[in-house]
Amino acid sequence: MAAGPDLSKRPFPGFGLGLRKEHYEAVLTERPAVDWFEILSENYLVDGGKPLHYLDRIRRDYPMAMHGVSLSIGSTDPLDRRYLERLKRLIDRLQPLWVSDHLCWTGAGGVNLHDLLPLPYTGEALSHVVSRVEQVQDFLGRRILLENVSSYMHYPHSEMPEWAFLAGVAEKADCLILLDINNIYVSARNHGFDPVAYLRAIPPERVWQFHLAGHTDDGEWVIDTHDHPVRMEVWDLYREAAGRFGPVATMIERDDRIPPLADLLCELEQARRIALPLWKEAA
Ligand SMILES: [Fe+2]
Repeated sequence: MAAGPDLSKRPFPGFGLGLRKEHYEAVLTERPAVDWFEILSENYLVDGGKPLHYLDRIRRDYPMAMHGVSLSIGSTDPLDRRYLERLKRLIDRLQPLWVSDHLCWTGAGGVNLHDLLPLPYTGEALSHVVSRVEQVQDFLGRRILLENVSSYMHYPHSEMPEWAFLAGVAEKADCLILLDINNIYVSARNHGFDPVAYLRAIPPERVWQFHLAGHTDDGEWVIDTHDHPVRMEVWDLYREAAGRFGPVATMIERDDRIPPLADLLCELEQARRIALPLWKEAA
């Protein structure tokens, strides 16, 4: 097992937002008090056009993190070399804070299901993912962050809980973790586990980023829709995570029903109000 990253060297760029095209102009003209932006990498894997034009302009003023949905790190299909090459070109262009994707699979047999599907949490799947993360990190020449996905089903042959699988992949592959606090909450409700037990099992030095997002709750199922403000229960879990992990770059992730930028800035302020006093106390 590789020596872990040094917790004292973990970057803390502050509080960020997912960059959405609806806000390009407002970001450029208003220069909002956002410490950094996260982009969806796939939107910019092109040679030109409007999105890339905005991206370059916004990048001059803000640090950026790259977040992908196409790595399919858990799939049994070969890694997509062409995708990785395009990703590397974008990395060279943006010099991002870091590069992330999801601990999931998105298809097999050449079929893309366009969904972030959970893996069976077995030793075999763990070894498979670890070897693929190592290949990706070798190719990109850097550690990547993997994000926990929300889920609505489980595999009866899983041998360990999700948190043990995530921690195991991170430690064995020597990669980092993007902890989506909303996804933990959503999955905890759907599967009936304790979300705080999840947090306790994750090695702090591996956690470099938090996602906060909204969900839909119909009482029986909780769906990770990303189209609502962050809910109270997720703020509570964020408080718990902020206390446990210390200063971790935190971001509001809204993917649908995009509100005015000012609304997201209010949510970001809420994150600061919760986390900063905890981190000052501990410093
Ligand atoms: Fe997320």
